[in-house]
Amino acid sequence: MQKIRVKIQREEDDSYDIIIGKDLFPQIAAGLKTLNLDKIAIITDSNVKKFYANTFLDMLKKEGLKAVLISFPAGEKSKTRQTKERIEDALMKYQLTKNSVIIALGGGAVLDLAGFVASTYMRGIPYLSIPTTLLAMVDASIGGKTAVDTPFGKNLIGAFYQPERVFIDISVLKTLSDTEYRNGLAEMIKHAVILDAKFFLHLDGYMHTLLTRDEDVIARFIQWSCKIKKVVVQEDEKELSYRKILNFGHTIGHAIEQVSNYRVSHGQAVALGMIAEAKMAEKKGLLNFMESQKIIDLLKKVKFETRIKKLSIEEILLATHYDKKKSQSEVRYVLLERIGKAKMDCTVRKEIAEKVLGDMT
Ligand code: GLY
Repeated sequence: MQKIRVKIQREEDDSYDIIIGKDLFPQIAAGLKTLNLDKIAIITDSNVKKFYANTFLDMLKKEGLKAVLISFPAGEKSKTRQTKERIEDALMKYQLTKNSVIIALGGGAVLDLAGFVASTYMRGIPYLSIPTTLLAMVDASIGGKTAVDTPFGKNLIGAFYQPERVFIDISVLKTLSDTEYRNGLAEMIKHAVILDAKFFLHLDGYMHTLLTRDEDVIARFIQWSCKIKKVVVQEDEKELSYRKILNFGHTIGHAIEQVSNYRVSHGQAVALGMIAEAKMAEKKGLLNFMESQKIIDLLKKVKFETRIKKLSIEEILLATHYDKKKSQSEVRYVLLERIGKAKMDCTVRKEIAEKVLGDMT
């Protein structure tokens, strides 16, 4: 028997900047012109195409850049291997090369899908992210999780692939629906609740202004939220341990989304998930009542429903068992010790989970 060792050792630097500002599109176009790229492909969805994508494409063309726009029907339902294949065919037809760049322009589904396309096209080409929803600004744009959904579950095929740069243009928030805007606020609250009590206090104090979409205030809060998430992904990019802390509120939240057939919005489902998981911590003696009440009060300020309506508790609890992030046979929760301090890998007895959800109906 012979043995040949192929020694591949890596020290990679996939660091990137997140730029936050107003009316960034002209600057992005001018910046791309200096890069000597051979082609640019903007990947977006049918909603964003209507609002910004065509204007942005024109800006790129005016800079003398060779650019194409590829769009797919908006919605998580499009985030499939089939859509990925269609986009890849379009990229090959347009003869995008390794010296080209992909621009992911849209919400979470676009960023996940376009980032995944970038990670496998010609074994990986660079991409930029321009999130257009508040949720994507504070979540999907940081940490390089890219993926598509399959009939077996969400995000089951994907890669960790970091963008070259993220541009958060808060001017695009003007056209966001209320539901979409509140989806982002729920995620910001989650970041505060698990890791930053001071951020929680500020969110509480400024929630009224945030709901008016004051651009300067929202820019500061986006920056704060992104900083919290970036610390987590810097420590555990591949979600081997610490990154799981970001799942707070999502074990029950995802289950509610699934059982409601996605009629309950992500933000609303996570809000209910955060309440349920805070109450579980309370029942286990980890968190005191006053702390969970503060979380509920803040969620109420955002006009989130705090009761689970018209959904079966049994089905919700069953759905938590099929969460893809669950590696053990028992469901593991992220529970709170106080606002700003969370504990991972917690188990919750069935009776406690049933009681908490039952009390929320
Ligand atoms: N959305 C959670 C994460 O990026 O890990």
